[in-house]
Order: sequence, then C-alpha cells, then structure tokens
Amino acid sequence: MPYDQRQTPYLDAALRYRARGFTPFHTPGHKLGKGAPDGLVELLGETCLSVDIAMAGGVEDTRESTHLIRLAEDYAAEAWGADRTWFLVNGSTSGIHALVLTLCGPGDTVIIPRNAHKSMLAGLIFSGAMPVYLEPAVDPLWGIPLNVPPEAARAALAAHPEARAVFVTSPTYNGLCADLAAIADLAHAAGVPFVTDQAWGPHLRFCPELPVDAMTAGADAAVVSTHKLISGITQTSVLMARGERINRARLDGMVHLTQSTSPQVLMYASVDAARAQMATEGDALWRGALELAVWARAEIAGLPGLRCLGDEVLAEDGVVAFDRTRLTVSAGDLGLTGFELETALRDDYGIAVEAADPLNIVLNVTYGDSRADVERLVAALAGCSARLAHRAGAGGSAAPAGLLGRAPAFTRQMLSPRAAFFAPSAALPVAACAGRVSAEMVTPYPPGIPVLGPGELISDEIVAYLLEAAAKSLKVHGPEDRALGTLRVVL
Ligand SMILES: Cc1ncc(COP(=O)(O)O)c(C=O)c1O
Repeated sequence: MPYDQRQTPYLDAALRYRARGFTPFHTPGHKLGKGAPDGLVELLGETCLSVDIAMAGGVEDTRESTHLIRLAEDYAAEAWGADRTWFLVNGSTSGIHALVLTLCGPGDTVIIPRNAHKSMLAGLIFSGAMPVYLEPAVDPLWGIPLNVPPEAARAALAAHPEARAVFVTSPTYNGLCADLAAIADLAHAAGVPFVTDQAWGPHLRFCPELPVDAMTAGADAAVVSTHKLISGITQTSVLMARGERINRARLDGMVHLTQSTSPQVLMYASVDAARAQMATEGDALWRGALELAVWARAEIAGLPGLRCLGDEVLAEDGVVAFDRTRLTVSAGDLGLTGFELETALRDDYGIAVEAADPLNIVLNVTYGDSRADVERLVAALAGCSARLAHRAGAGGSAAPAGLLGRAPAFTRQMLSPRAAFFAPSAALPVAACAGRVSAEMVTPYPPGIPVLGPGELISDEIVAYLLEAAAKSLKVHGPEDRALGTLRVVL
C-alpha cells in the first residue's frame, strides 16, 4: 500500500489554515465566526466556525489549487479499493445523479431496481433515459423490499441488449444485500457497467464480518454515504470508480456539474478523517458494534409483542447477506405502527430512531454506541412491550399499517421519466387518476423509495394506496400537492 492510511492530508490542511491566522476576505460572511450571531456561535462553537470556509478560501497551498483534495481522494481510493474517488458534499444523491448522467443520455435504456432511491429517478429526469425495472420481492411480514436476484438481471439484460448500465441497491435500507458478484458478472458478460448504490454500506469494506462490499464484488462504480454509518458529517459521501468500463473523465465532469461550487472544508475534512478511522480501526470498531447489535437483536426478539428482523431473512428471495448492525423492529403484534412506536420511544424514553414506516422502525448500531446506549434502547423497547403486552396478538402485524404496509406493484412505464415530467399535465383528484400516466414522483420518506414515478401508468392499486396515504397524512416527497389531494397526470 503506497499510502499510510493513518494520515489525513486534508484534515491537516484545515488545521494548518486555522493555525496560520489568516485575515479572510473570502466567504462566508461571518469571517471565521467573528461576525456570527451569538446563537450560531453557541451552536457550532468558535472552533468549528474558525474553519467554516469554502475550499477555495485557501486551505490548499494556493487559492485555486486542488491538489490536497485529490491526495485525500487518492487515500480514499486505496482504502475503498477503487481507482478514483470523489468526495461529495450533497450526499450519495449527487453521486447517483453524476453516474446516471455519465452512463446514459436521452432515450437510452438503463436497468435499475424498483427499490432504487428517488435520486435515481431524479437522475433519469435529468438525463432522459428510460428505466427497465428489476423488481425485488417484498417480504410479506415486514413489508420491506428484498434484493434483486441475479436471474432478474439476467432476464432484463437478455430482453434489453440495448441497456447501457445495470444499477443495484445493496445494502437496502434494512441492511439486506444482493448477490453483487453474480450480477456484476452478468452485466460484464453483456458488456455493460455495473453500479452499486451502496449508500448504506460505507463500512462494509473495513470489516470481514460484514457483507462483501461493491468493489470487492466487482462493481465498476459505487457510491457510499459516509454520513450514514461512519464519521463523515451530514451530507458527505464518496463516489468511486474502477476499471475501464466507466469513462472517468466524463464522470469527473458530471461530478462538477452536480456539486456545489462551494464545497465546505469541514465536510471534506470529515470524510478524510472517517476514511483514516475506517482504514486503521474499522475492523475492531465494527466487530464491537456487531457484538452489541447481535445482543440487542436477541433481547428485542424475546420481548412480548416485538419482532426484530434477523438471519431468517437470508432464506428470502435475492438476499445473500445481511448487515446485522441494522435493527428493523416491529411492534405490529402490539397493534402499533412504526410511526407510533417511534413516537413512544422519542417522547417517553428519549430515544431517536433512524426511520419509521407504517410497519417498522429502523435503528442503526455503530461503533459510536456504548453498551449502555444499547441497553437503554432495549430497556425502552421492554417498557413499550410491558405497557402494551395485553394487546399482543390482537392486531396482527399488518393490521395497523393497512394498505401502506406494502408498496403497490409496478405497472408499466409509458413515457420516459423526463418526457412525462416535462409534458403538459393537469392536477386531478387522486381518485380520478386510475388509467392515467403520472407526471410526478411520489416518494414516502423515509425510506425514499418512490411508489410512483413520472411516466408510469397509474393503477387502481396505486390510487387506493395514495388515498390511504392522504387519509393517514403519510409524509411524501415529490408531488406538488404533498397532501395528495391531487396528482399531476400527463394530458
Ligand atoms: C439506498 C439509498 N441511496 C441513496 C440515498 C441518498 O443518500 P444521501 O442521503 O447521502 O444523499 C439514500 C438515502 O437515504 C438511500 O437510502
């Protein structure tokens, strides 16, 4: 390894900038905190504000230089097993946009999973490409998407020899992992690049006890959210590419097209630090986290009326590995939706969850948790269970969620997402939308997986889902009318 992974060239440069004591005549206007309002100083602290500058502000050796960020990205490329990485300040979202724009233009076909994050559909709106969906099965008990099986990718590639790329999401929001190596082989045999949305797997590469990572499995490109499960601060991610199937010069251009022109030094420095931490201590840190999560899962599964997704999921369609640090918990047997369980944990026990949906909550266990933290979580869930144990078995797990417990089936893509998005359209009452083509995307958030995309035929099932979502005030992204009274359809 040419690089000493303990080094943090970009973080060090930020520290040097502070030590130099520059008098700044550059952005931001608060000038290293000197002009910042008191509340902001109280929130961020003088230390943080004193390096809150955009990259062009002088952390590099000259104002316009980018050589230190490239060095930090090269360290990251070595750590994640790529030829090139890009640090991102607008999340994996912007990495997915850049990849889609690099790999497919107007009218091109691209094979993507139905459980792709909404950033993928946004990428298709930007690029004009047409999706061919790989549809992972949905677990009937948990209502969560499983993984895309290699056979589905094989069939799609055979039916669409014109496809320009295959994208797969792995791990899923719930930590379920696809057979990436098999899908990579199929894509490569068909002569197309294979990309993994590994937003939920920034840590996988660093601990052999965790599922295999995209680069090891043979992906040509991947994106990881360093802010989701490792120490990058919020919004940071890393895009990576390897080999010759991806035009890296074009990808570089697309990264610059989709990123802010004022990337923040603190964000870059945090990715640099997160990479060094993972490369040097990741194995030990994640083994510790795994131990805590495995303990918590067993405890939670033993509480009356509660379930915690476990290794049984490995028997499900397309799932070949499972990140056991992710805890998906249901109190459906106590008659609680995921939202109600989230509220109980927050209001009564001071526990903040990663996500809640109509059926479940999702909790992340990382190296940042102590044994006491995880014991507190288990005690809180035990409290919920004890208070409501008399209801156990009354509702049945799907009852509280109703139709929202499961995303409606995909129908047909009538127009490209871009064509539908920009077509003349009208807002109709949702009840009148069956048989029409959607001009909008509807995405319950979290987990950010669209239930309807622009250009898709709206079925009775989708209408029923949206009516129930409106009645239950489900939080959705995408439509102009976020209360879902109306939906824009193509005229
Ligand atoms: C599977 C998946 N991909 C991409 C993203 C976008 O990541 P980011 O929030 O880093 O932009 C998310 C966010 O939740 C996600 O779940």
